[in-house]
Amino acid sequence: MSTGFADFVDLCVKELELCALREGETVAVLSQANDRLEYADAFLAAARRLGATPFHIRLPQASTTLLGDAGAWTVGATPLASNQPALDALKQADLVIDLIFLLFSKEQMEIQEAGARMLLCVEPVDNLARLFPTEDQRRRVETSEELITKAKTLRFTNKAGSDVVYQLNQYGVMSEYGFTDIPGRWDHWPAGFLFTSGDDDGVDGKVVLDRGDIFITPFKTYIQEPVEIIIERGQIQDIRGGFDAELLRDYIAGFDDPKAYGISHIGWGCNEKARWSGLANDRRSIGMESRAFYGSVLFSTGPNQELGGTNDTACHIDLGMRGCSFFLDDEAILIDGEFVIDDLKVPRPQFAAAQLAGA
Ligand SMILES: [Fe+2]
Repeated sequence: MSTGFADFVDLCVKELELCALREGETVAVLSQANDRLEYADAFLAAARRLGATPFHIRLPQASTTLLGDAGAWTVGATPLASNQPALDALKQADLVIDLIFLLFSKEQMEIQEAGARMLLCVEPVDNLARLFPTEDQRRRVETSEELITKAKTLRFTNKAGSDVVYQLNQYGVMSEYGFTDIPGRWDHWPAGFLFTSGDDDGVDGKVVLDRGDIFITPFKTYIQEPVEIIIERGQIQDIRGGFDAELLRDYIAGFDDPKAYGISHIGWGCNEKARWSGLANDRRSIGMESRAFYGSVLFSTGPNQELGGTNDTACHIDLGMRGCSFFLDDEAILIDGEFVIDDLKVPRPQFAAAQLAGA
């Protein structure tokens, strides 16, 4: 899709309508250095068109690269931490558009606690268009959220030999369906998945990443040979395998942080517009398509403050897995990567149309 500036403004208007932006509300757009200034312009124009009062806060310095092309992808430390006036202004807004990536930072938590709804938007514009959220995705993500909220245990397996159990007594569920109309709630455009975390000492078993599974962060690569991750009491005890296992081991060791070995969020993808192969021909993104593709399992290690945990390591690894079977209290949600709960299924013709539209 070609997306000129006018088209992008139209897209932002649709997005702000999904966020229930009303006349007279205040929209704060946050950017840094020279990053995504055209996004800021598009959101400002869209918000004005809807009768809101927008303003733009541009921080003078940029945090570490998000795109993974160079340097470590650290999370939680942003230039907003040293700019109290900017933070105070953001807390006054009804809706904050985050163009820098505040996720995992305590500043984001402060803004949410102040009651602002928050939307992160950093992906390439054509991804924003192609993976544009829908009310039906929201319904399926929220149905999924209800299922996980009721569960006491979670288990997933795959044909490569994964078999891991999470105890679910400690944390809630976080949903991401690509927009938000609820005060104090955060979301990310585009998305279409959800997750919870196991108890801090309540994850045990083995995760075997298979050929074709995705190192979403930090490497943005497809795994070529199995990687076996041994987990005891919520901690990685060993990582075995060939080249991909060596990379993972060395990357984590580089943080010199015991908390980097913690297990983080776990959930599944619901976005029928997202493609497993998306990352193979477009590496500009931060991998939302790979986190959200329909029927995937998103397995993660590292920080868990998103769900109220205390692990604040900067070493965050997201892995997108195909073909898994996923159970909540022994009730199957996915079998070999296919949803088996009717309310979570996209009808076949609709699924095919969405995949073709996204091609
Ligand atoms: Fe993650």
